Amino acid sequence: MDLFEYQARDVFEKHGVPVLAGAVATTPAEAREAAEKIGANSGGVTVVKAQVKTGGRGKAGGVKVAKTADEAEKYATDILGMDIKGHTVHKVMIAQGAQIAEEYYFSILLDRTNRSYLAMCSKEGGVEIEQLAEERPEALAKVEVDPNVGIDDAKAQEIVDAAGFDDADKPALIDAIKKLWVVYREEDATLVEVNPLVKTEGGEIIALDGKVTLDGNADFRQPDHAALEDELSADPLEAKAKEKGLNYVKLDGNVGIIGNGAGLVMSTLDVVAYSGEDYTDGVSAPANFLDIGGGASAQVMADGLDIILGDEQVKSVFVNVFGGITACDEVARGIKGALETLGDAATKPLVVRLDGNAVEEGRAILAEYNHPLVSIEETMDGAARKAAELAAK
Ligand SMILES: Nc1ncnc2c1ncn2[C@@H]1O[C@H](COP(=O)(O)OP(=O)(O)O)[C@@H](O)[C@H]1O
Ligand SMILES: [Mg+2]
Repeated sequence: MDLFEYQARDVFEKHGVPVLAGAVATTPAEAREAAEKIGANSGGVTVVKAQVKTGGRGKAGGVKVAKTADEAEKYATDILGMDIKGHTVHKVMIAQGAQIAEEYYFSILLDRTNRSYLAMCSKEGGVEIEQLAEERPEALAKVEVDPNVGIDDAKAQEIVDAAGFDDADKPALIDAIKKLWVVYREEDATLVEVNPLVKTEGGEIIALDGKVTLDGNADFRQPDHAALEDELSADPLEAKAKEKGLNYVKLDGNVGIIGNGAGLVMSTLDVVAYSGEDYTDGVSAPANFLDIGGGASAQVMADGLDIILGDEQVKSVFVNVFGGITACDEVARGIKGALETLGDAATKPLVVRLDGNAVEEGRAILAEYNHPLVSIEETMDGAARKAAELAAK
């Protein structure tokens, strides 16, 4: 999960990383009120910042310096509702204005390829780091961080030396970097990025922007992280699936997909996308995918169907199950149960391909049920074609 900048700021503050005052606002009036309070520490100057989970907000007009609370209100009016790279701005952060002398870059991230962590640091921050890495790679120091050791004094020293900072600036930078490491470790992050990390006119080092990605695999030991989830942009069906312990991913097409096991579901997506190419008058492609996993019960199947059918974009559903631990008769009972619960609310055709464990029993249950919306196909390709065809109608 990626955090908004204001959430990253809060997490930084919690671990002692130097940050400036900031408050989040969802209306221009709230922005004004926040600017009155926060601006008091910086000669009335605040910065109104769009809160969207994408970079380059400054360039897109989503970061504006306001000299007065009036101006902050006006900028908030402009920025709220703005679209930045496909993200709608629902919130702004009113940040205390900094007097920037220099902009640096620092990040620490999970380096999967090397089974390690990587710290990156540059004296030339503020700009897009991908661009810097490409055009002037020598200006971006990359230092491997041993996950068992982390960033201690020696490692922090190595990082600031590699980036070529002036000796006078190093102690404050080392301190900030060590605290950012604590954020990374304590919060189970896979990315902590500060761009820019600034030196102010007064010589202070401050994290002025923050990007933090938290590792969802650590949620079990991070009870506070659930509260950081973004209710406004979360897909309600994804939330419902999560509640039921199902893996559901929303996609753009019109064929709903349910399978058991990630591998089968992935290849189901491929055959549906491939079959869909034949239906040029109403291109069919996967609308979502839902993995009911191994050993799925009738209840799990019914929950899965409920979620998939709740997706308005879905025009047909392809249930593709290869029974191993999951028995096909359970799946068939789940389909029957879901359709019985839905009654007249069920309006979308279901194409079912069952194979493997208890396939005969499963097919027999559906054949006997003989529901007008359900068709049984013998093969995965045949079923994919049928589902794509039905969705294109
Ligand atoms: N609190 C602040 N005070 C002064 N200038 C700021 C402040 N926050 C951001 N800026 C300026 O705006 C630029 C862009 O802001 P930033 O938070 O990095 O957004 P993004 O990376 O999405 O463009 C920064 O590089 C900095 O020059
Ligand atoms: Mg930035």
